[in-house]
Amino acid sequence: MEEKKRGAFSGSIGFILAAAGSAVGLGNMWRFPYLAARNGGGLFLVIYIILALTFGFTMLTTEIAIGRKTKQSPLTAFSQLSKKFKFAGVFACIVPFIILPYYCAIGGWVIKYFVDFIIGNGEAATADGYFGGFITSQWAPIIYMLIFFVLTAFAVFKGVEGGIEKLSKILMPALIVIVICVSIFSLTLKHTDAGVTRTGLEGLKIYVLPSFEGVTVGKFFSILMDAMGQLFFSLSVAMGVMIAYGSYVKDEDNLGKSVNQIEIFDTGVAFFAGVMIIPAIFTFLGREGLESSGPGLMFVALPKVFQAMGPVVGRIVGIVFFAMVLFAALTSSVSIMEAVVASFNDQFHWERKKSCIIESICCLVIAIVVCLGYNVFMFEITLPNGAAAQILDILDYLSNNLLMPIVAIAECILIGWVCGPKTIEDEICKGGNKFGRKGLYNVMVKFIAPILLFVLLLRAVGIFNLLGINL
Ligand code: PHE
Repeated sequence: MEEKKRGAFSGSIGFILAAAGSAVGLGNMWRFPYLAARNGGGLFLVIYIILALTFGFTMLTTEIAIGRKTKQSPLTAFSQLSKKFKFAGVFACIVPFIILPYYCAIGGWVIKYFVDFIIGNGEAATADGYFGGFITSQWAPIIYMLIFFVLTAFAVFKGVEGGIEKLSKILMPALIVIVICVSIFSLTLKHTDAGVTRTGLEGLKIYVLPSFEGVTVGKFFSILMDAMGQLFFSLSVAMGVMIAYGSYVKDEDNLGKSVNQIEIFDTGVAFFAGVMIIPAIFTFLGREGLESSGPGLMFVALPKVFQAMGPVVGRIVGIVFFAMVLFAALTSSVSIMEAVVASFNDQFHWERKKSCIIESICCLVIAIVVCLGYNVFMFEITLPNGAAAQILDILDYLSNNLLMPIVAIAECILIGWVCGPKTIEDEICKGGNKFGRKGLYNVMVKFIAPILLFVLLLRAVGIFNLLGINL
């Protein structure tokens, strides 16, 4: 009975596109390129790819397999494997609950820029202080956040196959086409500024060739930790999403193969996001443009680049670019909301509609507070890791830096030491499928992943700063 009522993806393709849709999001489009630019280009890429193939693969496999094995969402899945790990389920459900409101706030910013380029307001968007003026205004961020939220909630409300899968099947292929076209375009760019001509291909070199300039052991370690934190967020692991999606996968589907494809998708799009953005910024704004943009890369530096392409080309590229980011963000926010809704469904046996309404109310209240965090609730505190923060950053810190490593450590201990990696192996091998990289998986889940995660957690709570170690 229970199983019949549970939603399901129609097949492997639906699942892979939905999971890739979850993984490919603002993290890939916005955070990855600026982290790469800041951390020595190719060096960051190499570290990231190695981590994705080892650590990312381990976490993704674990979660999807836990989901399919238990047929439960995060809140209830862990306790089915071991009563003592119920707390991990609670944490894994709190993470998406915290992330959704601020993800929707940022999704609203994307819609704002998308609309700006459509109505021909792209030039105004390049003015100094435009972005700051927008996020500190009282109503506009809330209205755009609401639009983004309604789109998200609608897909979740329509259910697994009729909403989430359908949306991903339309948006993900469109996204790939746009990513490829914009990447090629970016590489063909050429611009002369104050007598200096720069090209997209030179920008590509900065992005992919490893730079060891100024790389000390401490810096290397800090790049490693940055890459690992990014990998978590990017693969949507340690926040219950992949457990929820895994629970909708049919028993006969090949999990190992799906995990590989999701990873390739996510890492590929992150890589190409860099190919789209870094050469374009380098060509038009030079090396300083790259070094100074940081998190403002997407909303501050890129509009300037689009403007420099001329009114018509810039407008078209701006529309296409922000449409692509919007697609990526939407399929991710849908998955974040689904993790919470599915948890409510499983824990309280509510109907999807009721869970959606209750989660919508909670999310909207917090999201409005987040939007007002740059206006009436404006304040700034310093986080334990030394960063200055407003409400959005505090939620990001709580979820990403604290709760996610805790959930991930709990998962590794549960699988590595309590249930044993064989639990996951059996799930992957169901129906005669093969588990490639099994040896690697065992070592990672038992030893390497929990140790790396623990160091990541220590760094987040500022232990290294306290000890005067600059990592
Ligand atoms: N993985 C998504 C991204 O890269 C973000 C995300 C976070 C999705 C949490 C689901 C859950 O932007």
